[in-house]
Amino acid sequence: MTITIPLPARARAQLSAENLHIQRGGRAVLDGVSLTVSPTSRWGVVGENGRGKSTLLHILAGTLTPDSGHVRRLGTFGVAEQEMPVDDGATVADAIDRELAPARAAVRALETSSAALANGEPGADEDYAAALSAAEALDAWDADRRVDVALEHLGAVTDRSRLLQELSVGQRYRVRLACLLGAAHDFLLLDEPTNHLDADGLEFLTTRLQEHSGGVVLVSHDRALLSDVATSILDLDPSRDGRPRLYGDRYAGYQAGRRAELARWQAEYEEHQAEGARLQENLSRAQNRLVTGWRPDKGTGKHQRATRAPSLVRAVHRRQEELRSQAVGAPRPPLRFQMPPLPVRPGTPLVLARDVRVTERMRRAVSLALHSGSRLLITGPNGAGKSTLLAVLSGELAPSGGQVSRSRSARVHLLRQESPRADAGSAAEVFAAHVRGLQRNGVLAESETVALSGLGLFRPSDLRRPVRELSTGQQRRLDLAMALAARPHVLLLDEPTNHVSIALVDELTNALHTTDSAVVVATHDRQMQADLSSWPRLDLGGRPLGPARC
Ligand SMILES: Nc1ncnc2c1ncn2[C@@H]1O[C@H](COP(=O)(O)OP(=O)(O)OP(=O)(O)O)[C@@H](O)[C@H]1O
Ligand SMILES: [Mg+2]
Repeated sequence: MTITIPLPARARAQLSAENLHIQRGGRAVLDGVSLTVSPTSRWGVVGENGRGKSTLLHILAGTLTPDSGHVRRLGTFGVAEQEMPVDDGATVADAIDRELAPARAAVRALETSSAALANGEPGADEDYAAALSAAEALDAWDADRRVDVALEHLGAVTDRSRLLQELSVGQRYRVRLACLLGAAHDFLLLDEPTNHLDADGLEFLTTRLQEHSGGVVLVSHDRALLSDVATSILDLDPSRDGRPRLYGDRYAGYQAGRRAELARWQAEYEEHQAEGARLQENLSRAQNRLVTGWRPDKGTGKHQRATRAPSLVRAVHRRQEELRSQAVGAPRPPLRFQMPPLPVRPGTPLVLARDVRVTERMRRAVSLALHSGSRLLITGPNGAGKSTLLAVLSGELAPSGGQVSRSRSARVHLLRQESPRADAGSAAEVFAAHVRGLQRNGVLAESETVALSGLGLFRPSDLRRPVRELSTGQQRRLDLAMALAARPHVLLLDEPTNHVSIALVDELTNALHTTDSAVVVATHDRQMQADLSSWPRLDLGGRPLGPARC
């Protein structure tokens, strides 16, 4: 019997990509990307939404083939994709079995071969030795315990019989992450792994990634996680020569390096423009002399200079050509989010909640009043009821106890934690249909409509692309745009940083401080919590104490 179990390569493990190029949706998404991941690497990958981070991870994982370039892989891989489809009927146990399949196979092979050895079957000793070494390499006997520890620390469902399709999105992601962390792969390739983790889960993930005995490639918008884990950063945002940049010296080194790169690019561009303008002036002067045909008297210095004019024109033309061939592109201005003005309605509360309870979904009763300009930060561990409270405030969910009232003319809009993706149409068409619906239902006057292009969330070329081809973060940007298009008096944001680029998180946070509407944010994002620390905070965590009031 020969067993073929994918075994970790440990110190020999290798993952390297060379000069990757790939087109998607008719344009080059990655070009000239090279990366070497050693068993001790901690790579962070950053870049605007739609820049190709997930595409790169798929190529590294071998699920997508680049148009050109090479990837060398040796070892085992644990991959957490950004979105997670669920198989009908699969349970938590199935998810664990899938990830621990090699460990399970090694233990089975060991049992079979030890029985064969006891029976004195020929070749049994070799099979036994091979199975033993596989089980040891995988630390197979400890695999389930490792998964259980991860399930517990990530606050994931520990009941293995639960159906995945009946779990919340966040619960599913936590189960999947726990399986990956328990499987002891050589390489972990993680795409936005923090989206559904609370403070304890984040702390556990951070420590596990720091201690992982293999290489890590981490795509994340979570600045705290990148600072704590990544020792090098691959930046896919545009650079002077169009190539991605690699920065050592952790996240802080990347920030300083990126600033310096942009400053250098800008200075070079300005120098180039100034040289171009100077040459143009020389050219015009020389051409003027040619056109006037004026000749000073022979033998004077002026005569010699004027007769040199045609050769001067040629020389300047040559230099202009040279400059054009080395044209330095201007730093492409990054997209800048523009928050539309949100309306004020002074006087009575827009939303009033009195002793609101939702059985088994919210840990405590809540009383609060939201007026124009109110701010509220909701925190609490997974399952404390943050999304439930937002759904109650928005009117989507009726509480099981207490009362909620909303001012009749107040527009209350909820950006959900996850939204279904439209299956047809471009971003611009989906947005326009949404706005038409708001107008048809009398929610929005025509004079109040905002243009999607004016929000600074999409490049013009992406507005026309089919939604199903947009990256996950671009889809999230569309959801945000649609929430703002409703011009809400009360804006409810459920984990608004999920999938969104670092730059947009900063811009959105700044805008939320100053908008006139009421804003309620539920977030686990440590940086956003720190940035909103001046807001009143409602923590739904802890033991179910008395009612929380705001
Ligand atoms: N199946 C597809 N067909 C066509 N274009 C695609 C497809 N998948 C992705 N793209 C495009 O490739 C580009 C890169 O997408 P990718 O998902 O890699 O970006 P990303 O950096 O991970 O973005 P995000 O931060 O939003 O997750 C985007 O412009 C996206 O629209
Ligand atoms: Mg992505």
